[in-house]
Amino acid sequence: MERRVAGVMYILITIALVNEMSTVHARDNNKRRTKDKTGGFQKNICDITDRDSKVHCYCENAREPRNASKAECWVFNGGISPDDYIWQSFASQPTLQTLSFNVRVDGALGYVPTKALQYLQRLRTINIKYGNIVDVTTFAFANLTNLKEVTLSQNQIETLQQYAFAHLPNITMINLEENMIVEIGRDAFFDLPKLQKLVLTKNNISHIKDGAFQHTFNLLELDLNRNNIQNLNRHTFDGLANLRRLDLRRNHIFNLTEFTFAELWNLQELLLGKNDLKYISERAFDGLSQLRKLSLDDNKLAALPSGLFEGVRGLSSLDLRSNELHALTFDNIKPILDNLKPQNSNLLVEENNFVCDCRLKWMHSLRNDTKSQSTKDSLESVTCKNDPPIVSSAYNKMSAADTNLDFNKEILHAGITIETIDKNNITDKKTTAEDLSKDHMNDILAPSKKGVKRTVLKIPPEALPCPVEVRTTTEIIPYMIDPIIPIQNEMKTFRFHDMNSGNRLSVSIVWSMCFVFLFT
Ligand SMILES: *[C@@H]1O[C@H](CO)[C@@H](O)[C@H](O)[C@H]1NC(C)=O
Ligand SMILES: *[C@@H]1O[C@H](CO)[C@@H](O)[C@H](O)[C@H]1NC(C)=O
Ligand SMILES: *[C@@H]1O[C@H](CO)[C@@H](O)[C@H](O)[C@H]1NC(C)=O
Ligand SMILES: *[C@@H]1O[C@H](CO)[C@@H](O)[C@H](O)[C@H]1NC(C)=O
Ligand SMILES: *[C@@H]1O[C@H](CO)[C@@H](O)[C@H](O)[C@H]1NC(C)=O
Ligand SMILES: *[C@@H]1O[C@H](CO)[C@@H](O)[C@H](O)[C@H]1NC(C)=O
Ligand SMILES: *[C@@H]1O[C@H](CO)[C@@H](O)[C@H](O)[C@H]1NC(C)=O
Repeated sequence: MERRVAGVMYILITIALVNEMSTVHARDNNKRRTKDKTGGFQKNICDITDRDSKVHCYCENAREPRNASKAECWVFNGGISPDDYIWQSFASQPTLQTLSFNVRVDGALGYVPTKALQYLQRLRTINIKYGNIVDVTTFAFANLTNLKEVTLSQNQIETLQQYAFAHLPNITMINLEENMIVEIGRDAFFDLPKLQKLVLTKNNISHIKDGAFQHTFNLLELDLNRNNIQNLNRHTFDGLANLRRLDLRRNHIFNLTEFTFAELWNLQELLLGKNDLKYISERAFDGLSQLRKLSLDDNKLAALPSGLFEGVRGLSSLDLRSNELHALTFDNIKPILDNLKPQNSNLLVEENNFVCDCRLKWMHSLRNDTKSQSTKDSLESVTCKNDPPIVSSAYNKMSAADTNLDFNKEILHAGITIETIDKNNITDKKTTAEDLSKDHMNDILAPSKKGVKRTVLKIPPEALPCPVEVRTTTEIIPYMIDPIIPIQNEMKTFRFHDMNSGNRLSVSIVWSMCFVFLFT
């Protein structure tokens, strides 16, 4: 009897419990649903089941609330407001260290979601790709103390507001590649004491405010490749005393003024290839005592100021290919000549407009002395022409240039062994100087008609003629003397400050006089 009563009571209790549990469950479900509808900031951002949600994240550490370290989020259906409740849901994963947003639909994410980032005090890496962020606003990264890397590549950023990147004590890398940034203002990068690498490649930067980088004094690498920069001055890079590598390739810089890089006294690599450089101040590289590598390839340089490398005596890799150089003198090269002899050094000089004359003599000895195969290969492919110097636009105000310009147009179209038609009837009959062994010179110069490119190293060094001006100023038969002497005289006419002070055409004039003399 008692047993039966106990049995009934047990069943009743069980039923009651089951009943109670199911109502609790139903209430929970209701609760969750209403939370969802009101934006539910307690939602776990790693476990969003609502198919209509504009953001879905896949997290590394299962779906435990408050425990994921890595989240990859997909942003769908544009038009999330910066204040949308969805951003508050990131508070559900305060231990996130790595967060990335992949934006799927055009126009879906037009700002840095600061409202989400502010909860993520442990965040180390953030990456937003393919968004249409136009503007990085003040304190966009919420002063996150642990943030180390920010990547906002391939957005449409035009403006970095004041303090866009500010108070980020641990940040080491900012990547803004492939945006449309037009200007770097003075305080866009502010209080970033550990920033080492700043990538601004493929933007549209045309203006950098003086001192724009002065709050990023630990920067080691600054990449400004493929922008629209035309002007730099001595304050552009203020504060970058630790910079090791500066990439300015593929811009439109045409004038390098003195002390442009004077603050960069730790710089090791300076890349200026593929610009429009025509003018370089003799003191442009002053201060770069640590510089090892300099690229100036694919520019429009017709001559280098003779003391250009005086300030960069550590240089062991120099690229001057594809310019319009008509000479590269021993004086130009002398300060760095010894650096160009070890195996891992590098001097690249082909594809210029060199004139076959004694200023190129040093190439013979460097080819013999250097252990660098690439330097040897480059020197062996350097060509020159017997024509008057190419009259580059740097010198083209010269009246006597007209004939030379015609002349040079033909040369431009001349192939390696094709002779140009001699409109001016300047033959090379008399290119030999009377005071030389005529037979010898005729042998050497006979095949070298105007417009023909010749391989410098195939011309015996003693056969390279020296300009008239050199002969008259040295009082020694120039073909017989040490190349240093004429070059030192000649260097004076090439100095940049001379060119600026009204003598800029003197070189060409001397040269054309010299060649008129030689060829008539
Ligand atoms: C949190 O994640 C760690 C692994 O990162 C795991 O060992 C731990 O059990 C998780 N804690 C909770 C409460 O899920
Ligand atoms: C970041 O720090 C600055 C200066 O301390 C402060 O004015 C600003 O309100 C902070 N911003 C955020 C989002 O915390
Ligand atoms: C930088 O990060 C380290 C490790 O994440 C942390 O210990 C340190 O406090 C951070 N520094 C600052 C200034 O917050
Ligand atoms: C780059 O900036 C210039 C203004 O400096 C502007 O005229 C030009 O349209 C911009 N180019 C692109 C591709 O946005
Ligand atoms: C190069 O820049 C300097 C300084 O801005 C200026 O004085 C000089 O005239 C410029 N040269 C040319 C050829 O534009
Ligand atoms: C370079 O070496 C070659 C052969 O090894 C020699 O004939 C020539 O005189 C040398 N030239 C110079 C400038 O030392
Ligand atoms: C070129 O000049 C020479 C004299 O130096 C003359 O004999 C010859 O006919 C001239 N040729 C032309 C094409 O004018």
